[in-house]
Amino acid sequence: MPPIEDLVNVFDFDAACKQKIPKDAYDYISGGAEDEFTLRRNREAFGRVTFRPNMLVDVSRLDLSVTLFGQRIEMPILIAPTGAHRRAHADGELATARAAGAAKTIMAVSTSSSYPIDQIGKAATGPLWFQLYAGPDADATRDKVERAVGAGCKTVCLTVDAPYFPHRERDIRNRMVRAEIQNEMGANARRRGAPPPRYGLPVRYTAQLTWSILDDLNGYAKVPVLIKGILTPGDAHRAVERGAAGIIVSNHGGRYLDGDPATIEVLPGIIDAAAGKIPVLIDGGFRRGADVLKALAIGAKAVLLGRPPLWGLGAFGQQGVERVLQLLQTELALAMGLAGRPNLASIDRSLVVIDR
Ligand SMILES: Cc1cc2nc3c(=O)[nH]c(=O)nc-3n(C[C@H](O)[C@H](O)[C@H](O)COP(=O)(O)O)c2cc1C
Repeated sequence: MPPIEDLVNVFDFDAACKQKIPKDAYDYISGGAEDEFTLRRNREAFGRVTFRPNMLVDVSRLDLSVTLFGQRIEMPILIAPTGAHRRAHADGELATARAAGAAKTIMAVSTSSSYPIDQIGKAATGPLWFQLYAGPDADATRDKVERAVGAGCKTVCLTVDAPYFPHRERDIRNRMVRAEIQNEMGANARRRGAPPPRYGLPVRYTAQLTWSILDDLNGYAKVPVLIKGILTPGDAHRAVERGAAGIIVSNHGGRYLDGDPATIEVLPGIIDAAAGKIPVLIDGGFRRGADVLKALAIGAKAVLLGRPPLWGLGAFGQQGVERVLQLLQTELALAMGLAGRPNLASIDRSLVVIDR
C-alpha cells in the first residue's frame, strides 16, 4: 500500500482500495449490473461536455459554499447513500459520517447501513440525510423514517430506481449476492408481505411503489422528501407536481437497469422540466472536480459521490474519506478558478457546450 500522501486523485484511491480489501468486497463496491454498460457510460459521457471558460475575471476569492434545505455546506459535493460500509472498513458509516463532518459536507445514510442510524447520528459531526427504501409494510417504512429523523437526519431521499434486485454478475460469481438476497432481502420481503417472486427474480421489497408514496411521506416525514433515481423529464415533472422537495438524477451508479443513459446526458432535460421549482441534484461517475463543474453549469445544485468515499474508506478509513473529499473540493475550486467562475452563482450554462 502506498502512503496516503502519494495518492493524487480519486482513481489512486480506487487502486489502493482494491489492494487493501477482499476481492468480493471490492467487487461489490465497484461493480455494476450485467455488462456494466451504464457504469462505463456514466464516465464516458463527461467527454462530450467541454468548457467555454471566461478570462480576466477576478477569481482571487473563491467560494464553493452552498445551502441545501437549510444546511450551509462548504462544497456542492455530498456523500451519496451507499449500503454496508463495514464491507470497506470496520468503522463503517461511523468513520464516513465523521469524515463528512470534517469536510463540512452532508452524508446521506443508506437504509442498508451497517451501523444503526441512531449510532451514526451520535457519531456524526455534520448534517446527515436519510435514504429510504420503502417496503410494502407502511408501518415499517414510517418507523424507519421517524427513527432517522429522530437521529437527526435533515431530509429523506426516497430511492425509486430499485424495485427489483439486479444481476450484478461480479457479486453473483463471488457468491455474495445469493447470501445477501436470501438472508436480508428475501426473508425481509416475505415477512413484510411482498408477493412471492416470479420468473426467477429475487424479491425486492420496493416493487410495489407508486407516486402515492410521496403523499404518505410528505404527511409524516417532517423533513423535505427528495426523489432519488429520476432519469426522464416526464418523471421530473411528476416529481414536482406530486410534491417532491428535490430530485436526485441517478442511475444508481449503473447498478440496476443496465442500458440506462449516463446521468450527465439526461441532466439538461431534467433541469428544464424542473424549471427551477425544486433543486435538482445528480450522481453517477463523478470523479473529478471538472465533472462536478460540468453538472453545476448545466444546472445541478450539487453532486453526490457514491464509490469514491468507499474507496477512501476501504483504503484508509476515515482519513481516506476525508482525503477523497478534499481532493474533489480542491479540484472543483481549481476548475472554477480557471473557468472564471469564482462562486456557484456565477456558474451557468454558457460555461459548457454539449456535443450531440
Ligand atoms: C456499494 C454501493 C452501494 C449502494 N447502496 C445504495 C443504497 O443503499 N441506496 C441507494 O439509494 N443508492 C445506493 N447506491 C447508489 C449511490 O447512492 C449512487 O447513486 C451511485 O453510487 C453514484 O454513482 P458513483 O458510485 O459512480 O458515484 C450504492 C452504490 C454503491 C457503489
